Amino acid sequence: MTTIIDGKGLAERLQQELKETIANDSLENPPGLVVILVGDNPASQVYVRNKELAAKRIGIHSKVDRLPASVTEEALLARIDQYNRDAAFHGILVQLPLPIQIDEEKVLDAIDPKKDVDGFHPLNLGKLFLGKPEMIPCTPYGIMKMFDAYHIPLEGKKVVVVGRSNIVGKPMAQLLLARHATVTIAHSRTEDLAALTQTADILIVAIGRGNFITKEFVKPGAVVIDVGMNRDQDGKLVGDVAFDEVAPMTSFITPVPKGVGPMTITMLMIQTYEAAKRQENAV
Ligand code: GUN
Repeated sequence: MTTIIDGKGLAERLQQELKETIANDSLENPPGLVVILVGDNPASQVYVRNKELAAKRIGIHSKVDRLPASVTEEALLARIDQYNRDAAFHGILVQLPLPIQIDEEKVLDAIDPKKDVDGFHPLNLGKLFLGKPEMIPCTPYGIMKMFDAYHIPLEGKKVVVVGRSNIVGKPMAQLLLARHATVTIAHSRTEDLAALTQTADILIVAIGRGNFITKEFVKPGAVVIDVGMNRDQDGKLVGDVAFDEVAPMTSFITPVPKGVGPMTITMLMIQTYEAAKRQENAV
């Protein structure tokens, strides 16, 4: 029997809890999040809009700072520095990808690690690697919450993560290792990918290729987590997993949409609140 993991429902529950926590908290200022959006990438616009709406629902003060695609690296770094020093914003997020004239690494390095609610700063990724996470990249963090909400055991399980990005694949592997899973990271150069993924008790896919994972890639009874957000020929949102053919053979699977996406946004809100608490307690 297959359980479809209700990421949207879980996200709504966690957001409601967070809203109540914030309303009952004696924080001097509401938690504040600034999202910097450079240029007009259509997918980024949608993601940023969803973050803005979630913040509003929950009682997080949010601002979207829109900069033109032609902005210089220097100007963007100066803007980040301004928010690093602005006590009204406890979290700073620079939406990726950035235009080619801007060095993404320099930008992520410039964010104050205490305000790095995306968890992409080298200091935060280093802490995660050492098993002492403080700010955790939101997509893998949200996936861990789903495993726990559905009581999916991780200890000793064979997990294959397909995709080695700094945003999803690498931090995902670290979080799973910390929970005693046996983790393999696969990627576009992996030979005979299907032979490997067929061994997985838990298969996590973040490769950005619509409907790529078909049933030949999946062990019967596996847990399948789909991080993909792709548009098919008709403009329909599809995941990296061919849901209709794969779902019946799994024990648990996330849909797209309403799976991983809403959890990513929720973890961003939770981390913004936690960052606000830490910053308030530090003064
Ligand atoms: N672009 C795609 N996913 C993300 C994310 O989680 N954070 C940021 N900042 N940009 C992204």
